[in-house]
Amino acid sequence: MRANQPVIYMDGMGFWSVFHYDDVRTVLSDHARFSSGPGAPPPSQIAAAPPQAESRGVGFSLITSDPPKHTMLRSLVSRSFTPRAVAALEPRIESIANELIDRCEAAGEIDLIRDFAYPLPVIVIAELLGIPSADRDQFKLWSDEVVASANAIMGDVNPQSQKALADMHMYFRDIIAKRRIQPEDDLISALLLVEEERQQLNEHDILAFCSLLLVAGNETTTNLIGNAVLTLLEHPEQLDKLRAESERLAPAIEEVLRYRSPVQAMFRTAKEDISLGGQIIPGGSRVVAWIGSANRDEQKFDRAGEFDITRESNPHIAFGHGIHFCLGAPLARLEARVALMVILKRLPNLARINHDPLQPARGFIVHGVESLPL
Ligand code: HEM
Repeated sequence: MRANQPVIYMDGMGFWSVFHYDDVRTVLSDHARFSSGPGAPPPSQIAAAPPQAESRGVGFSLITSDPPKHTMLRSLVSRSFTPRAVAALEPRIESIANELIDRCEAAGEIDLIRDFAYPLPVIVIAELLGIPSADRDQFKLWSDEVVASANAIMGDVNPQSQKALADMHMYFRDIIAKRRIQPEDDLISALLLVEEERQQLNEHDILAFCSLLLVAGNETTTNLIGNAVLTLLEHPEQLDKLRAESERLAPAIEEVLRYRSPVQAMFRTAKEDISLGGQIIPGGSRVVAWIGSANRDEQKFDRAGEFDITRESNPHIAFGHGIHFCLGAPLARLEARVALMVILKRLPNLARINHDPLQPARGFIVHGVESLPL
């Protein structure tokens, strides 16, 4: 598609697809012409990404808004989500990762996704938000349901997911009420401070942001960790290099983000007729920017189809580009680096226990595997 039809209307799907690196970057970042709002009803036969969730009442307003609302919301929430605040989490993430491996050792088996890559980001988000550890299991159940709701087939609203979301919001409201009386060192208390000082965030915004963190931050990070281990197992010479030179951990994560992008695509809506790649995209059309394709574009990357952790230049756009650039990128990078470090240290004989075909993770947007027994 990239070579022959880099901008094309997908008839049966009801949207336009864009495949070249430069065009994908334009669609993601040109918010004057490409809106992040839900626009026309999305096609019925595909799994939905977080941006579509708003149209189903979930209300992830940051990711689905355009300026000026987006500018205001982003500046307020990013105050409480700074790279410095995230960096301070490193020791805690390392101890959670070690505890998860301890549990696998005790059980005598490990499915990397089920036992490690999946629980790690959920626990981290729960701690970041300030969910008491006694409520962690309940929170994880809700989180599963909310993610399932955002991935559900469009038009087929799962009442169980809606109930889980309502219950979780009720729970968050309770935590918010407690933090109003007694603030703690957590994200919800920090957001409440912004609400009180600036009068610009309200409780609905805070609830929407907490839900967005769950949907945007969990499955994506799970897939980054899973894709990293899978790709290194497929490239044993690169795995050896990484074991020998630990300073390559961060560039190795970047190369996984490029080579197996956990988020393959994002949606936009054309605000007007737009000329792109020799085609005219009519105003009102839904447009899919294929991040996974852009990151393998031979016109942008040398040996684009090769996995190479020593790559010198790696301007991938796995976290998007422009004003919606992933707010959680520093956290995702940190979690993946610490996860890989702990895995390499604790599992010196890393290998798959069988070579059965792997099942892809659900959905059209995320890219990963359902299970990876080691
Ligand atoms: C936005 C990818 C992890 C929170 C985005 C976007 C992408 C992305 C591509 C841009 C959306 C757009 O242009 O419409 C990823 C990947 C991750 C990851 C690949 C993991 C490997 C996280 C984490 C969090 C997070 C851990 C938070 C805990 C967000 C938020 C936005 C966002 C809040 C919306 C930003 C805005 O609209 O201004 N992410 N993400 N993400 N991500 Fe991530």
